[in-house]
Amino acid sequence: MSPALSCDTVWSHARLLPMADPARPDAVVEAGVVAARDGRIVYAGPADGAPAFEAGRTIDCAGRLLTPGLIDCHTHLVYGGSRAGEFEARLAGAGYEAIARAGGGIVSTMRATRAATEADLVAMSAPRLAEMIADGATTVEIKSGYGLELAAERTMLRAARSLGDALDVSVVTTFLGAHALPPEFAGRADAYIDEVVQVMLPALAAEGLVDAVDAFCEGIGFSPAQVERVFTAARARGIPVKLHAEQLSNLHGAALAARYGALSADHLEHLDGAGIAAMAAAGTVATLLPGAYYFTRETVLPPIDALRAGGVPMAIATDCNPGTSPLTSLLLAMNMAATLFRLTVAECLAGVTIHAARALGRDDIGALVPGHWADLAVWDVTQPAELVYRIGGRPLHARYWRGR
Ligand code: NIG
Ligand code: FE
Repeated sequence: MSPALSCDTVWSHARLLPMADPARPDAVVEAGVVAARDGRIVYAGPADGAPAFEAGRTIDCAGRLLTPGLIDCHTHLVYGGSRAGEFEARLAGAGYEAIARAGGGIVSTMRATRAATEADLVAMSAPRLAEMIADGATTVEIKSGYGLELAAERTMLRAARSLGDALDVSVVTTFLGAHALPPEFAGRADAYIDEVVQVMLPALAAEGLVDAVDAFCEGIGFSPAQVERVFTAARARGIPVKLHAEQLSNLHGAALAARYGALSADHLEHLDGAGIAAMAAAGTVATLLPGAYYFTRETVLPPIDALRAGGVPMAIATDCNPGTSPLTSLLLAMNMAATLFRLTVAECLAGVTIHAARALGRDDIGALVPGHWADLAVWDVTQPAELVYRIGGRPLHARYWRGR
């Protein structure tokens, strides 16, 4: 008789959504069990045929659905201030791009963020992160990009790291220095990019604050040539890149990102066929942000059918930010992806688990397989579609981060 498998925790009587088979992301294991040791999964699968476990504790899931913890792979969660006033102005007819060009938008959040200390930013952002956690998130990417100068970008990234240290959640940080042009560089965008690549990125990377580098490739952001300079600097340091691409217009940013082996290209409403082909060839994930589509009342849909036909993996994220997507729920993001973008339930669930993991360059989260972190969500639902179908509500029953 083989000895019992020793582990810290066993979750029994669960309906598992392992997300382990990309071809069948909605495959459910009816009578499932998960076991973890030292925060990592050691078994996930049918109870029938599972090894005997010698467990410190056993948690009876009573037939509930157990999924990987959700992954929000694109957020601007850390920022100062509020843009509710800008929202009111937009309701009265002002356009997002017009507000940005008039010195509002991202630059108004920059002012509030620069005025905040690290402790202020942590205090203002922690409730947003707590909301994400309450809806099942166990990993959250957080971008800088509202500091737009070295000290304030550093403060943002340090606040993001502090939030990850304070709460039971993994935080992945992305340097988005090339998000908008700060007013002190008005008319001198190339000089600002010099600052990003020669001063900000080297310093922040040396301080261990940069897991990835992002940029905003857009008429109100930066040109493809400027983005390319940022990507070249990231590549020279071995840091992966991603891009806000084709949100408001088509500057062929997705194809540029793919040329740099980007983890993801994000937004993509104005993406064309050449961009899709380039992403497919490079293995770049398409991160869809239906909250921004909804909130800006965009009318051009991302080319979902062509992405699907091209075999491009699709992630879904909240894009949590004060200007275009004040959204903290991945459950609602999934509902919007289904309702507005016509993703299937299986695509939605893969979009916030295994494909979101890939958009972060991670192969140790997002699925219930041995070796992955035991980041788990137990839901008060029995069928996966209920997680996508509901609007509001809090179906999360329990959540475990690294087995705890
Ligand atoms: O993802 N597109 C650029 N960045 C954000 C918006 C940021 C803002 O308006 O504050 C986005 O939509
Ligand atoms: Fe964004």
